[in-house]
Amino acid sequence: MSGFPKDFYWGGATADFQYEGGFNEGNRGLLSHDYETDGSMEHPRHHTMKLADGTIKNYRSSFFYADQIPEDATPVFLDNEYYPSHQAVDFYHHYKEDIKLMADMGFNIYRFSICWSRIYPLGDEEEPNQEGIAFYRDVFEELKKYNIEPMVTICHDEMPMHLALKYNGWSNRHLIDAYVKYAETLFKEFGSYCHYWLTFNEINAVRGFGPCGTRESDGYTRYLADHNMFVASAKTVILGHKYNLENKFGAMYAMSGLYPRTCKPEDMLQSQLARRENWYFIDTMLRGYYHPYAKSIWQHHGFETLEISEEDKKTLYDGQLDFCSFSYYRTNTTQAGDKWFNVGGDDNPYLEKTPWGWGVDPLGLRYVLNEIYDRIQKPVFVVENGMGAIDEPDENDYVEDDYRIQYLNDHFKAMRDAITIDGVDCFGYTMWAPIDLVSLSTGEMKKRYGFVYVDMDDKGRGTLKRTPKKSFYWMKHVIETNGNDLE
Ligand code: BG6
Repeated sequence: MSGFPKDFYWGGATADFQYEGGFNEGNRGLLSHDYETDGSMEHPRHHTMKLADGTIKNYRSSFFYADQIPEDATPVFLDNEYYPSHQAVDFYHHYKEDIKLMADMGFNIYRFSICWSRIYPLGDEEEPNQEGIAFYRDVFEELKKYNIEPMVTICHDEMPMHLALKYNGWSNRHLIDAYVKYAETLFKEFGSYCHYWLTFNEINAVRGFGPCGTRESDGYTRYLADHNMFVASAKTVILGHKYNLENKFGAMYAMSGLYPRTCKPEDMLQSQLARRENWYFIDTMLRGYYHPYAKSIWQHHGFETLEISEEDKKTLYDGQLDFCSFSYYRTNTTQAGDKWFNVGGDDNPYLEKTPWGWGVDPLGLRYVLNEIYDRIQKPVFVVENGMGAIDEPDENDYVEDDYRIQYLNDHFKAMRDAITIDGVDCFGYTMWAPIDLVSLSTGEMKKRYGFVYVDMDDKGRGTLKRTPKKSFYWMKHVIETNGNDLE
């Protein structure tokens, strides 16, 4: 075979709270992320909270660097803060236009997340919200019109606020029932449109109050929350296969690469052990059991063990995922003495960095594809990859984004080589994010990924007008030629 498989999926990926907006329309409930402000690298975004004595405090509460949130803190909206999820870039009112742009590029797949609180505004009510269902039905219909296959992320780093506050999020097993009920509603309502489902986004990376709804972000509570998510995912897979055998399930892992900083044996061992912080999630969900090294991870995070019931063990085994999907943006390095997964370690002298310090490493994508496929031997899918950059539009909002074209071109070649030379069974690619949207880590708009420029600034000001960039036309050609014309 000389190029990409002929039925390869080419498309893009987005997440509701970064893209959709309409936060108080269609009877949508509030999400944990609705209380998260904008920010930047220098001024991290935070949740605005009120303590019992009336004091207002800010807490960083997503990803690795989450703060511990006190029991008496509840979220509040402040007039002097901007909350990007409220409007995002308003896919809610632009979905027809945006899906047409994706179709114009030739997408045959679009990965998007359904907003949990648009379907169940509180998360634990009896009946789903019909307005939310109607909105997504329209989105599915629009995709069908253009023969674009949907891939749905059931939960992208979020939860209804009510569930976070009432149950301390995923640390409570009640969440398993709430999630499975929500997933079943999606199968009932949208099962005729959709066969690719991702149970969770970047389940290995997200934690804390934003995505997991827990006030604590590490230690026993975090791993208990992860276990409950594993069980919820497995139950959903079992149920989804009962609904339709054609349903295929993945979950999404943040799998940017991790290299030893030197070939010193201590650094080599460090990188192997640190990588297990990621394998822990992939192994459990794709093999269906906890690997013996799990114990050493728990101990590293300060507790002896997790008690796993026989019933949960069976569920995990029966609910293994069908394929492994992951995000790949960059590679990091680690060395002996680091606290395991070194998220900030972009100190690879061989790599150029984006303005946000992310090391650009196309070959690393081939490395990671091989790493995963060698280990798991189930089909893989690159569900996120792209370059956050500062675009400079001309007076017509047109952007000449040659840097983005170069980034994607080089990553596509690495992916092609993994498939054609190394034999990796990779069946698709969805670029993050085809239409500019709000950054997850910084809450900025100026960190742009898209093929399409959206006229909006960091505070949500602008016309929201969509304008294709140079990369839009380049990507259209890539898809037309099925990647056989890469430079
Ligand atoms: C992934 C997430 O972590 O990376 C997306 O699944 C996110 O939600 C993407 O947007 C890029 O990160 P950022 O911080 O540049 O938006």
